Amino acid sequence: MTVLASPVTSPSAAWWKNAAVYQVYPRSFADTNGDGVGDLRGICNHLDYIRDLGADAIWVSPVFSSPMADAGYDISDYCDIAPLFGTLDDADRLIREAHERDLRILFDFVPNHTSDQHPWFVESRASRDNPRRDWYIWRDEPNDWRAALGAGSAWTWDEATRQYYLHLFLPQQPDLNWRNPEVVQAMHGVLRFWLERGVDGFRIDVAHCTGKDPNFADHPRCLAGEPLASFNDDPYSHEVLRGIRRVVDSYPGERVLVGEVNIRSTASVVQYYGAGDELHMSFNFPPLDAPWDPVVFRTCIREVDSLMQPANAWPTWVLSNHDNARHRTRYGGSMRRARAAAMLLLTLRGTPFIFQGEELGLEDAPIAPDRQVDPGGRDGCRAPLPWLRDAPHGWNGAPPWLPFAPDPAALSVQAQQADPESMLQWYRQLLRARRASEALRLGSWEELPSPAEVLAYRRREGRDERVVCINFADRPLTIELPGAWRIELATQPGRLGQDFDGVIHEEQGLLLAPAGS
Ligand code: NOJ
Ligand code: CA
Repeated sequence: MTVLASPVTSPSAAWWKNAAVYQVYPRSFADTNGDGVGDLRGICNHLDYIRDLGADAIWVSPVFSSPMADAGYDISDYCDIAPLFGTLDDADRLIREAHERDLRILFDFVPNHTSDQHPWFVESRASRDNPRRDWYIWRDEPNDWRAALGAGSAWTWDEATRQYYLHLFLPQQPDLNWRNPEVVQAMHGVLRFWLERGVDGFRIDVAHCTGKDPNFADHPRCLAGEPLASFNDDPYSHEVLRGIRRVVDSYPGERVLVGEVNIRSTASVVQYYGAGDELHMSFNFPPLDAPWDPVVFRTCIREVDSLMQPANAWPTWVLSNHDNARHRTRYGGSMRRARAAAMLLLTLRGTPFIFQGEELGLEDAPIAPDRQVDPGGRDGCRAPLPWLRDAPHGWNGAPPWLPFAPDPAALSVQAQQADPESMLQWYRQLLRARRASEALRLGSWEELPSPAEVLAYRRREGRDERVVCINFADRPLTIELPGAWRIELATQPGRLGQDFDGVIHEEQGLLLAPAGS
């Protein structure tokens, strides 16, 4: 194994504050047995790639036993691996080999719902007096709650036992009843199972959904038609998270919880950090929805700063994931904008999450109707990674489960490794700059006066400082900065190392270090 950069963990802060996290979507990462679906061994084979990129941790989307109604977010055994992805031994090997490379590893924990094939649900639906009946949420009458993924009502009628069960997602994903202490015990057992195998923590799927209104009141009228999962905010979820946090904290090492709080309100997201006794970090999705618009970005970023800082809540930044159109696609397909966005992602105050393939500048794949897999219409961003220039781009054997995104040859890892100006090299440079600067990783964040179409901010930690300027306009703009600066990194080549003259080219991002440093 090659010896790579030194560990980032600084004695002054938790590893997860220093870290950049890389999201692996296993189906589309790398295939080793030729069935056209990525697998755990495929991840093992490319750990050096992730380490060389400059990430410090990986989050692996679900690989557990599943009938795959929702690509593995419908779990039928939390403590085993789906044969499609490999075996428990492969999972152990992945954890071990990640650690050998100083990469932390987070698994996906899906507490809100199981698969309808999970033995718990099979028992629960067997009869009304089954001891596991109350492990799920059964009612005589539905209310007007809506399921996500276009699944209509959140209630499905069970003819055999003549009641409705609740599912905030597909009917194949019944919701667990976390008010039942046996469910709490069983799910804590799942956490322990993986903590003992050595994972460094969990990404918690829809962390805001485990608690539900105990009165099952209808939606407020203004939200009728919206899926409940996009605004559910019952206080009981906080109790669930405190319980999960206690389990995780009882293990040695700094195990970490990052929650998917998919409520599009940063003020609500902050609540899920509790008093330092719930999530260590939460996703905050308004920036992921933001178009290429300085006003929208400025608002999102100011909100994070003003709401999270006082609550002592460490921010996260996400521009793409497996549930949303990729940001390059959302920004009109522009590589230039995607480069500037990467600078934002990797220089704002907080832990960045990189979705596999964004470091290659992938766009969404167009999916013909007969190739659609996901009932939620999210296939485009889940296209396989092109590893090699020549077709089939490292996916030997059966064709991959989804088609490639546009330009797989030019955007392949192989092609980009050889091109110093590629997106892949850009991410590497940014992550290297971040690793080298305590100000960028942990420092304060302060917005600087700028023209309206420029976002400018300073990061500071002790005597280390950096300034970042992003010009959202398609024409050059100038800025006056306090002090003298030199250009450390620029989205377009040229001017590197030069003193900064105040000019930011069209849609350019600049990372500036103090002149003379
Ligand atoms: C959020 C996950 O990211 C998504 O892929 C999934 O469909 C839902 N939660 C349900 O588990
Ligand atoms: Ca495979």
